[in-house]
Amino acid sequence: MTFARIAGVGGYLPGEPVTNQDLIARGVDTDDAWIVSRTGIRTRHFAAQGVTSSDLALEASRRALAMAGMEAGALDLILVATSTPDMIFPSTATILQAKLGNVGAAAFDLQAVCAGFVYALSVAEKFIRSGSHKKVLVVGADVFSRILDWNDRNTCVLFGDGAGAVVLEAAEYPGILGTAIHADGSKNAILNVPGQVSGGKVTGDPFLRMDGQAVFKFAVSILPSVAQQTCDTAGVSLDEVSWLIPHQANVRIIEFTGKKLGMKPEQVIVTVGEHGNTSAASIPLALDAAVRDGRIQHGQKVILVGVGGGFTWGAVLLRF
Ligand code: UT7
Repeated sequence: MTFARIAGVGGYLPGEPVTNQDLIARGVDTDDAWIVSRTGIRTRHFAAQGVTSSDLALEASRRALAMAGMEAGALDLILVATSTPDMIFPSTATILQAKLGNVGAAAFDLQAVCAGFVYALSVAEKFIRSGSHKKVLVVGADVFSRILDWNDRNTCVLFGDGAGAVVLEAAEYPGILGTAIHADGSKNAILNVPGQVSGGKVTGDPFLRMDGQAVFKFAVSILPSVAQQTCDTAGVSLDEVSWLIPHQANVRIIEFTGKKLGMKPEQVIVTVGEHGNTSAASIPLALDAAVRDGRIQHGQKVILVGVGGGFTWGAVLLRF
């Protein structure tokens, strides 16, 4: 029997941290106390002009490959979860592949917005378990700063840019213990970027639009239940799980999810305060931070749980 295990993790945040005060200095009508009390966000990072999702993905991937002790040429599948691709086509995964110097691996993008990384990890695990692929790079990368309306304070203070990556490889024992992914397309209006490119022009609205309260309510109902479902399916009790890594959108959603699952606050990895919401990158960035600072140790069980536009949601239970 073949299983998938995590061989390396990596993360990358572009540039210097941008504080709430910096946003005010740039003309956003907001205040630090509101952002901190409603979201927990103090800083975020923005990619410089011309820096794309694949550029951020490249840095995160190099770090994950270095931890795995693997050359990029050895990869046989490259999966990029992103909603801010470099181009309409080709896929950001193939652009990343070229930058990494890999030729021949399968490469494609996966679009599930902020749940993109748990979706991609779950897909990658199935490729490995089928026996068709053995060394897989899974990346979450986004530059949401490009799709924010800086006159909409309800959304522009919430997001940041970044990338996180994981190298998965075939193993005789399971690293990934269980996965669950779901969607409900009837909820696509509460979080979207409704525009598109057509006839040489942007048609419709090219900015992120969100009904924050509707998203909040949905997230707090779905995140604990999909985490529980994934553990139940894997036959693992939540008591055995050392760490919870929820999508990093709002500290209130994160804390609620941890409490509902009976996790202690110190078992919940929280990076939203420093990173903001980096969409598909948020979970692998948080995983990378907690692995590199020594909190997550080999052999421990970790549950990743994400939710995003679509609406999409899912969880991955793994033994690191
Ligand atoms: O990965 C995508 C997932 N996204 C999320 O998970 C986001 C989920 N939603 C949320 O995190 C929260 O709903 C928000 C942080 C977006 C908003 O928090 P809230 O507690 O639901 O605030 P609210 O929408 O009820 O807004 C309350 C007030 C309004 O003022 P009035 O009308 O009550 O006078 C807003 O105008 O807060 C005002 N407001 C702001 N004030 C200062 C909204 N944005 C800001 C701001 N600065 N940036």
